[in-house]
Formats: sequence, structure tokens, C-alpha cells
Amino acid sequence: MTLWDLDTPTPLVELPRLQSNIADMAGLAAAHGKRLRPHVKTHKSPDIARMQASAGVSGITVAKLGEAEAFAEAGFDEIFIANLLVGGIKMRRLVRLASRVSVTVGVDSLTALDLLKQGLQGFGVSVGLMIEVDTGHGRAGVKQPDQAAALARSAAESASLALRGLYTHEGHVYRAQADRIADVCERAVSLLCACRTRISGETDAAEAIVSVGSTPGADEMVRQDAVKEIRPGNYVFYDAGQVRLGRSAERCALTVLTTVIARPSATEALVDAGTKALSGDRDPVYGYGFVEGDPRARLDWCSEEHGHVHLGLSDRRPRVGDKVRIVPAHACTCTNMHPFLNLVDDEHVVGRLPVAARDRLT
Ligand SMILES: Cc1ncc(COP(=O)(O)O)c(C=O)c1O
Repeated sequence: MTLWDLDTPTPLVELPRLQSNIADMAGLAAAHGKRLRPHVKTHKSPDIARMQASAGVSGITVAKLGEAEAFAEAGFDEIFIANLLVGGIKMRRLVRLASRVSVTVGVDSLTALDLLKQGLQGFGVSVGLMIEVDTGHGRAGVKQPDQAAALARSAAESASLALRGLYTHEGHVYRAQADRIADVCERAVSLLCACRTRISGETDAAEAIVSVGSTPGADEMVRQDAVKEIRPGNYVFYDAGQVRLGRSAERCALTVLTTVIARPSATEALVDAGTKALSGDRDPVYGYGFVEGDPRARLDWCSEEHGHVHLGLSDRRPRVGDKVRIVPAHACTCTNMHPFLNLVDDEHVVGRLPVAARDRLT
């Protein structure tokens, strides 16, 4: 069966592109002596994580406890939940998970750390701890080295917690111009180093890991001496957002196959994929995505089931009934919309990968 025989909308993953994206990032990390702990929320697929493991990784990163449970179920035993876990139910699930696999979690406040200590106390489990640092993204994380030191001091009082180091998601690289990414990364590492100096004064975690994570920042972060671990996720597929930041569109491995269902005018096409197939994430330049092979044909707006392709800048004039592939704005949220991914090679459908950790909201 070829991909053109599939009903639409449906997601496609091009195997050769996926393989080379995986190999290139593993090679980059190895060439610079960094550990690669990829963020698997991009694909949520144990099959793809196994391909990454074969290329050489040091465990995996996930965003949710539920994703960690799904990957533990699939046999992964070294998992970093790069997020803040708060709540009694989560503590009970964390205890269960930590009794089966090696698990590390993030923390950025003394209040959450106290809850974590209480939740784990008396269960005889050991959980790794990473202090999250906000290096400019403005999401979670301590902002000052003193706050990191206070967390390290408090963590050292708990027999259930093993402080591993510091981490950041330098997500503000997505808001930077491509030529400012190196600068953003350098500043992020400088704050992480200041935090590391303070936490090594407070505990015996002298070998504290400095872990960073983003796809656009990876090329620069591997050059930073202080960085021990990188956690990019999106690189397995890339997407329109990465193309905006300078990545070649030829590397995008994930597309959504759609059918043109209407041609409202000479410069417009409607496809049968809207936010339910592509997700609601929008890129400032490419909108909800672009037509594979023609980044000038962009989905400028979507409703739930319809995608509106603006053809004004493109020479393409598809007819009603034609199938076109869309590179989504954001691959990670797009995969969450689908129960499986069609694996394709040279237009042949060669497999179907379940998105096993999809919809893990808790
Ligand atoms: C904590 C954390 N680490 C790593 C990543 C991976 O970044 P990217 O999606 O740019 O590969 C993310 C992405 O959201 C993240 O939130």
C-alpha cells in the first residue's frame, strides 16, 4: 500500500528522515561528550524511543507522570520527568513508579519539595531530584542561585531524594531570532553555572549534572563545557516552527496527509485537516503549517475540521480530490492528536506506530 491509498487526515512519518534526524543528534551529542536524554513527548512512541536508544541515549525525558508510566510499561527504566509534581495522588503514583524503575523529578520551590519529601517518606524508595532553573523562558524554575542552594539544603535532609543536579528548558530560544540563539544559550548556561557553584557549597552533589533541553539550542549547548546532558525532543521530526528558525524543510519527518475538499478561489484551498488533526499550535510565520515541498503554501487559518491554505505566494494549484501533505506548525502537539503514526518509506506504508503515551494529561 502507498501513502496515497490512506484515508485522510492521517499522520505520516518518513522513516529515512526520522532515522537520519535520530542519528545526527546522537552523533552531535557523542562528538561533544554530552549525554543525550531525549524528550519523548514529541512522539510519545516507545517504538521511536527504541530507535533513539539504539542510536545511543542515557535514559529518556518525559513531561508527565502518565507518560513515565506508559514508557515504564514499555520497558524503559531510566526516566526523568522534567516537570514539577504536586499532589497526593501523584505522590502515590510516583512511589509505585520508583519501586519499578529509576525515576527523577524536577522541583523549584521549598513548598513543593516539602510535599515531595512527605509523599515519599517511609516507602523505602529513592527518587532522583533535579532543581529547575528559569534561565529566561519565564515558565517554571528558580531565578536566583540562593533559591537553588536552599532547595539543595532541604533535599539533603531526605533519605528518599537523591539530588542529581540542575536543569532548564531554554524555551525562549523559540522567541529569539536565529542569529541570537547562541547568545540566549550562553546566558542560560552562565546562570546554571552560578547555581551549580552554590549547590555544591550546600551538599556533596559536587558532580551536579547541568542538563539543558531544546532542539533549536542543541547545536550551541553541546559546545558549552558546563553542560553535561542535553534533552532535545522535537529533532526527531522537526516542524514548521524549526524551519522558521533555520532548519531545512527537507528534514521534516512528520506530515499530515490531507485531501483538498474545496477551492474557494484561485489562491485558496481547503483541506480536511484542522486543529483536530494538526493541533491548535500556530507558528508566527507558517501559521498551522505548510504544504510539504512548498513552504510558501501556508495554512493561515484552521477551524476544527478545515485547514485554509493560502496559495497566493505559491505556484501550486491543487484540484478538489488531490491529496497534499502538511508539515505541522508544532510536531509535538500534532502527534497527541492521533492514536497512531503511519511509517512511510519511499511512499510505501511500512508500519503503524501506536502513540502509546498520547493523552497522558496527569
Ligand atoms: C523541560 C523540557 N525539556 C526539553 C524539551 C525539549 O525541547 P524541544 O521541544 O525544543 O526539543 C522541552 C520542550 O518543551 C521541555 O519542556
